[in-house]
Amino acid sequence: MKKLTLPLVIGNWKMNPQTNEGAKRLATTLKKALTRVDGMVVVVAPPTPFLDVVKVALTDHKRVFLGAQNVHWEKLGAFTGEISLPMLESFSVKYIILGHSERRRAGESDEEINKKLKAVLKTEVTPIVCVGETTRDKSAHYLNIVENQVRSVVGGISKAKLERLVIAYEPVWAIGTGLTATAENVYEMRLFIEKILADAYGRTIARKVRILYGGSVTAQNANLLITEGNVDGFLVGGASLDAEEFSSIVKTVSAHTHT
Ligand code: PGA
Repeated sequence: MKKLTLPLVIGNWKMNPQTNEGAKRLATTLKKALTRVDGMVVVVAPPTPFLDVVKVALTDHKRVFLGAQNVHWEKLGAFTGEISLPMLESFSVKYIILGHSERRRAGESDEEINKKLKAVLKTEVTPIVCVGETTRDKSAHYLNIVENQVRSVVGGISKAKLERLVIAYEPVWAIGTGLTATAENVYEMRLFIEKILADAYGRTIARKVRILYGGSVTAQNANLLITEGNVDGFLVGGASLDAEEFSSIVKTVSAHTHT
């Protein structure tokens, strides 16, 4: 049965491009390229210093929203180098990526991600929490890894709040490598994550949580991944830096919502 959630494609620019001018150019090209965005939501998550210039470039695009790549759980204080939710909200950020594997690799723990998630869920901002195994082993230990990540990250979140959550399944071995999980792998993991949530919160709530796939998504593989992987959209890294390619991924998802 098809889920009734609004599909979402998010472009994670990571630490790109190098200049404010470059960010402005990319966002301006993107605004022109993103013509077919019906029945879904598109999010652009640039590096924090470029939020303003990207915000201005995307003004008036009704279905494209601003995202951030990280946030601190405290609102203000002595946290050198950190960025708070009120700061991001003041730039009209509507989505925040939490627990990306590149941040986990730099030391971010499930406990910290859980604190960040709780903070974000106190606001109107939508959290996108990343989970995913580093490698796939024959004894399927990777399933335990993903299960532990999901359980730890949502710990202590109420039913009412959980339905606003978006989970991005991003197998680390597929990120930036050109290797993608098969559509079958993606579908399996989608069902698995939904089951973990259903066990803890019940089926109705679990079905409201959007589950995305991320890891070397391109204009070429997007169609198969969305149709047979049965996900609610994508978290796109490398391909989001190319306006034509990103908009082609968006068009694929938009076309899928109308079939
Ligand atoms: P990729 O990155 O599309 O370049 O593999 C995905 C991500 O890190 O979110």
